[in-house]
Amino acid sequence: MKYDTKILGIGYDTIIEASELLKKGEIVAIPTETVYGLAANALNIRSVKKIFTAKGRPSDNPLIVHIYDQSQVSLLAKDVSEKAKQLMDEFWPGPLTLVLHKKKAVSDVITGGLDTVAIRMPAHPVAFSILEECQLPLAAPSANISGKPSPTSAQQVFEDLEGRIPIIVDGGSCDIGLESTVLDVSVDPPCILRPGAVTREMIAELIGEVSMDEAVLDPLKKGAVAKSPGVKHRHYAPDAEIEIVKGTDIAVSRYVNRAILKDNVDGISAVVLCCQEHAKNYPFDKIILGSVHHPESIAENLFNSLREIDKGGYKKAYVQYYETEGLNAAIMNRLLKAANHNVIDVG
Ligand code: TXA
Ligand code: MG
Repeated sequence: MKYDTKILGIGYDTIIEASELLKKGEIVAIPTETVYGLAANALNIRSVKKIFTAKGRPSDNPLIVHIYDQSQVSLLAKDVSEKAKQLMDEFWPGPLTLVLHKKKAVSDVITGGLDTVAIRMPAHPVAFSILEECQLPLAAPSANISGKPSPTSAQQVFEDLEGRIPIIVDGGSCDIGLESTVLDVSVDPPCILRPGAVTREMIAELIGEVSMDEAVLDPLKKGAVAKSPGVKHRHYAPDAEIEIVKGTDIAVSRYVNRAILKDNVDGISAVVLCCQEHAKNYPFDKIILGSVHHPESIAENLFNSLREIDKGGYKKAYVQYYETEGLNAAIMNRLLKAANHNVIDVG
């Protein structure tokens, strides 16, 4: 291990220390309102490369550049459309990442060789203060080991990256709990590459037509080129096998309870991930996701719940399929990826 990783509480000293390290070319884990990010100076290629090493991230998976002021967009991107500007005015700072045509100043190391760059202005006051203090655009992916669920607390970052990074700035647990919406505005109509807390419905209300990339809810077709390279890598996945069960509440609980009984006979320890309203239907081990009436509560808990599956030593986990309106699109996108699209329809 190269570093004696420290978790620092928030305060002015921490903001200064984080920003000094970033200016020196180090990488630093920072809280955002979505998930924790692993930040580096986007204008320093050697620093950006450290991110890929620390995370074990494939080099073709591009990074989001974080800014704190709209004026920074023109340093990084060109041909910014009217719709893109409207979206910035409405949703920045916040959980919306915009994919724009890149300027030469943005390195291929950040974009994975694409001619576009993803930009976001986070709303978290700590992320915002660090960006403002260091005066640099910061490249930052989620601060997890590649392939694992994104971290929503400083402790989870520590579990994944201890020894690999110098400091983690502890800003408490993340409000939203799922990564930002990634919207490609280099095409018209704009296209959602990754759903998040800024939903398709919210975007459509502002700018009209918006499409959703097929890979969001369906497996990437064989031989197809991923529009967002992130989608082709296994993601958000615990070591356990996950099965998503589609059907009415009753049909799903009957199927899951039988399956868990059978797993137990076979010596496989299994668990169900369910909403608190459905908990009474499941007499066996369960992890509560949140309330079916409040998808925000499920979003906030989802990555914790996925990490709990492995911590509990379970080899199999079952979860109900939820319809994909609003924030549920983001929840189901993460669950489908975690389950490797293992879905059964029980009617
Ligand atoms: O909420 C978030 O977005 C968090 C916080 C830290 O800001 N960041 C995050 O970064 O989730 P990451 O690297 O884990 O996910 C970035 C996603 C990937 O799916 C990547 O493929 C996509 O954004 N992406 C980045 N640049 C892109 C580009 N130029 N074109 C298409 N997709 C891009
Ligand atoms: Mg990630």
